[in-house]
Amino acid sequence: MGIEVAVFDTSLSEPIFEQIACDLKHQGYSIQPNAVDPVLAQSLWREVSALSDDWFHRAGIGRANDYQLNRFNRTDSVCWIEGSSDPCREWLQYTESLRRFLNRSLFLGLFSYESHYARYLPGQYYKRHLDAFQGQANRLVSTVLYLNPGWLPDDGGELVIYESEIDQTGVRVTPSFGTLVSFLSEEFPHEVLPAKRTRFSIAGWYRLNQSSTERVDPPL
Ligand code: OGA
Ligand code: MN
Repeated sequence: MGIEVAVFDTSLSEPIFEQIACDLKHQGYSIQPNAVDPVLAQSLWREVSALSDDWFHRAGIGRANDYQLNRFNRTDSVCWIEGSSDPCREWLQYTESLRRFLNRSLFLGLFSYESHYARYLPGQYYKRHLDAFQGQANRLVSTVLYLNPGWLPDDGGELVIYESEIDQTGVRVTPSFGTLVSFLSEEFPHEVLPAKRTRFSIAGWYRLNQSSTERVDPPL
């Protein structure tokens, strides 16, 4: 007799987590192809690609924090992930394991994680921006998981990560299925170039705990 418990096997992800931690430490960003179990990536893709327009709202509208940052420089739509489906719950388990791993290996003190599906229709973009401003916001590490089977270089939609404020060249990332990008939110300006096809991703942020007497984190 035993109790059946569905446990997400994090040990399989350890080598990838190790690599992400090492890259974050030495270059501040990490690009990992095939970072998540392909079965999970498939189920996330199936879910996001089947969501009707009603599930998405224009990015930068609706959340006080995002309003000023994003209202005018992006045209994509997003759907926040709350863990109300099996794929989303598994995604949150994966990101929770990564959070613990990064805290253990880099002593980052990451406290929580928030994420949303993002949908860029052909021609949509997100201009050069930072996900957090030094000393003001509490987003410390950004992540983006791409959910685009069969993406070709010609489809566009690259993420461009700039090494500094003055870097105009950047590093281009093809939004290929299963690739996970992580970077320090306050240090890397980045942008999403327009694509020729609909482009799906999950963007997320690890945050520090900034609880104070006036404000309790995380805000909803
Ligand atoms: C973001 C973002 C990058 C991407 O949502 O803040 O920068 O490649 N996304 O989707
Ligand atoms: Mn961003």
